[in-house]
Amino acid sequence: MASSLAPGQAEGTSSSATAGEEPQRTDIVDVDEDVDSAFEDGDNFSDTTSVSSSIYRGRMINGRKYSSLRDDYWGPSDEQQFETLNAGHVLYLVLDSNQPNPLFRSPVKSPLYVLDIGTGPGTWAIDVADQFPAATVYGVDLSPPPSTWVPPNCFLQVDDVLEEWTWREEFDLIHMRLMLGAFTDTEWASVYKKCFDHLRSGGYIEQIELDVRVMSDDGSLAPDSLLAGWGQTFLDCARRAGRPLDTQLTMKAKIEAAGFVDVQEHLYKCPIGAWPKDPLLKDAGRINLNHWSSGLEGWAMFLLTRWGAPEPWTADEARVYVARVRDELKKRRLHIWHYTRRVWGRKP
Ligand SMILES: C[S@@+](CC[C@H](N)C(=O)[O-])C[C@H]1O[C@@H](n2cnc3c(N)ncnc32)[C@H](O)[C@@H]1O
Repeated sequence: MASSLAPGQAEGTSSSATAGEEPQRTDIVDVDEDVDSAFEDGDNFSDTTSVSSSIYRGRMINGRKYSSLRDDYWGPSDEQQFETLNAGHVLYLVLDSNQPNPLFRSPVKSPLYVLDIGTGPGTWAIDVADQFPAATVYGVDLSPPPSTWVPPNCFLQVDDVLEEWTWREEFDLIHMRLMLGAFTDTEWASVYKKCFDHLRSGGYIEQIELDVRVMSDDGSLAPDSLLAGWGQTFLDCARRAGRPLDTQLTMKAKIEAAGFVDVQEHLYKCPIGAWPKDPLLKDAGRINLNHWSSGLEGWAMFLLTRWGAPEPWTADEARVYVARVRDELKKRRLHIWHYTRRVWGRKP
């Protein structure tokens, strides 16, 4: 199976909800009025191995690079997408910066073997390897990570996790983040079963997924805005593709169905923009605005041009739409946020 990149030279609160349920509005985030009034011009950004060469080259579609291993995964793997994913990584570190370990919540104290499925740029895997030098950490993805140094106990590999797994180790922790829309329901069941089979007894699975729907509590998001319709547009595209994007709502039940026990869930409200009064949320919001701004095109292009309605959009139509959504993101006094859900559970 996996093509490996040698270490050191890598190239290349708690509540359950079921699918379709409206997410519950939890605590209201207080607005920092100073930030609102500071915007004079409406600019919300002013805060501001041996991996084969075809795998490295990937497939260029509409100006973005995609994995050459599969042609049905929506996300590009290029510098812009890695920048977005790294912003997402920092966002989740900030949101859990008051936790004993912001990298994961599973009570795994001294892991020996860790696997990160869909590792993207490998940032989470690299941080875990740094934090636990005695552990061996694997990150696996359809595409090679960007050229970067990795610690000697971290191995970033290129493979499709839907294929047979060849790792011999029994893992202490298997982690997934932002794998929404990667699998059909049947494929998810198979991935969770593989996770179960490859964890040691007492090992943990942990997964973090976001809700693509953007919301506001104070009506600052106009119901007829593009941003208000953004999430549903992509939920619909992904449903037509057969690889739903509502993973955050469905993962807990699927993880339990795979045999995991004591499955816990934490729900985050993730602000977009520096509008919250709370310093931690303000920081998170500032990072999340960059995350969204750099991510919009990569999130939108494949799904709209393959699965857009009433018929697939042209790349130019998708670009115009993304530009208009980006303009909306810059609007002052927009107190918007989305949910992110983290779930972790134990193999008995
Ligand atoms: C949205 S990215 C998230 C990356 C990383 N987990 C993070 O949070 O930064 C999802 C990643 O899953 C990978 N992926 C999708 N389907 C996969 C599969 N069948 N096998 C391995 N990786 C896969 C994609 O290539 C992509 O890099």
